[in-house]
Amino acid sequence: MRLWGWLLAVLGGGLCQHPEPPHGCSMGSCHPVTGDLLVGRAERLKASSTCGLQGPQPYCIVSHLQEEKKCFVCDSRRPYSPLANPVSHRIENAVPSFLPHRRKAWWQSENGVEHVTIRLDLEAEFHFTHLIMTFKTFRPAAMLVERSADFGRTWKVYRYFAYDCTSAFPSAAPAPLRRVDDVICESRYSDIEPSSEGEVIYRVLDPAIPIRDPYSPAIQDLLRVTNLRVNLTRLHTLGDNLLDSRREIQEKYYYALYELVLRGSCFCYGHASECAPAPGAQANVEGMVHGRCACKHNTQGLNCEKCDSFYNDLPWRPAEGRSTNACRRCNCNQHSRRCHFDMAVYLATGNTSGGVCDNCQHNTMGRSCQLCKPFYYRDPSRDLRDPGACRACDCDPAGALDGGICDAHDDPALGLLAGQCRCKEHTRGPRCDQCQPGFFGLSGDNPQGCQRGYLRPHGQLPFPPLPTGGAWGSWVG
Ligand SMILES: *[C@@H]1O[C@H](CO)[C@@H](O)[C@H](O)[C@H]1NC(C)=O
Ligand SMILES: *[C@@H]1O[C@H](CO)[C@@H](O)[C@H](O)[C@H]1NC(C)=O
Repeated sequence: MRLWGWLLAVLGGGLCQHPEPPHGCSMGSCHPVTGDLLVGRAERLKASSTCGLQGPQPYCIVSHLQEEKKCFVCDSRRPYSPLANPVSHRIENAVPSFLPHRRKAWWQSENGVEHVTIRLDLEAEFHFTHLIMTFKTFRPAAMLVERSADFGRTWKVYRYFAYDCTSAFPSAAPAPLRRVDDVICESRYSDIEPSSEGEVIYRVLDPAIPIRDPYSPAIQDLLRVTNLRVNLTRLHTLGDNLLDSRREIQEKYYYALYELVLRGSCFCYGHASECAPAPGAQANVEGMVHGRCACKHNTQGLNCEKCDSFYNDLPWRPAEGRSTNACRRCNCNQHSRRCHFDMAVYLATGNTSGGVCDNCQHNTMGRSCQLCKPFYYRDPSRDLRDPGACRACDCDPAGALDGGICDAHDDPALGLLAGQCRCKEHTRGPRCDQCQPGFFGLSGDNPQGCQRGYLRPHGQLPFPPLPTGGAWGSWVG
């Protein structure tokens, strides 16, 4: 329920900004405020048709109530300016601003063009919450909103809007919405009334539809955008037929938009309360919604979607309510700076620790670099984290068992003594490099190390002859 609470506040989004919890990120989940994605991005907004872009064009205003017709000229060769160029109607005029020329500036398409697209290309991945369009003239008789999450390679429709859905978008499901990701056609924003300042509103997550898991892939997929596109596909023509190419018919019909609001935020899975400019993005615009999360809780990535390197002891998780679900540092006892998360290890530890150190240095091994490699032993006088904690065994491989492995550490219960060599049956010495009395011929090939030796009764020569390099035997018993 807590999740749903913030989701409503953050994603369902009213027009007011999401209040920042007083504790910031340290006491639990935290979220960047939503804002207007168009602030600072006017130059990324494009319209496929604009009145007067090539030079002055006449257009007229009609109302279905008034019979009279008033005509004007648009000229959008230069940007709008209240005094110098008030008849410019470029798409940037629809970007909300607090300048005093509100409702004096607007975007307008060319006369009689029904298929017009308005498109915003974002520089990074954002989470889009809602759209509000305020039209100067009649709202479109049909339009759709769609988005891309892969920088324009593929597109998916969010919603269709039409006065007559069955004729405009026969394949779209009819309203009302049943599931939050249904693609429906709605009629309530396509009426011919009002003839001015009519709105079209679309919320990605309809507050009427409860969401069980806001982090489910389906919901994430729904919110994620890199590009937004509004296709205006049909004009209200008040009984006229646009196929009638007479100028006095054509110049009455066009789209005109006072304001386009596209709200959203950078989305950080509850791990950031601020966002910074994404690489290559504009940085100095007041109120701009930036695209790169300033990640806390030991997370990283444009969206805090992964753990910081060396913080892989727990699985990455979104923050929830009062739980930061912060990523936790691996413990490698200072013998490695790299680790990875291993689910099998995590489950085996009863979900307490899943970090596995990579590339343990200083002759250590084990998932926390807590063990000495074979042929090394723990120096009991040094701390485990000391680079010299593991020392090389000093055993003669010919005379010691297992090729010269020594006891890796002290363990009185098992009779282990760190660094002690384990001699073969007939060898001796701290390094096991001597034959026991009465034995000779130390050899790695001999599982017992040395062989029983004797002297010939009347001579000083050993028998059998010694292998070269072997030790002399001596009398026994
Ligand atoms: C929207 O318009 C663009 C450009 O004309 C077009 O490529 C795209 O297919 C349209 N989208 C839909 C869903 O019809
Ligand atoms: C341990 O974590 C796994 C994977 O996240 C989860 O499915 C399982 O229920 C958890 N077990 C316990 C005891 O918490």
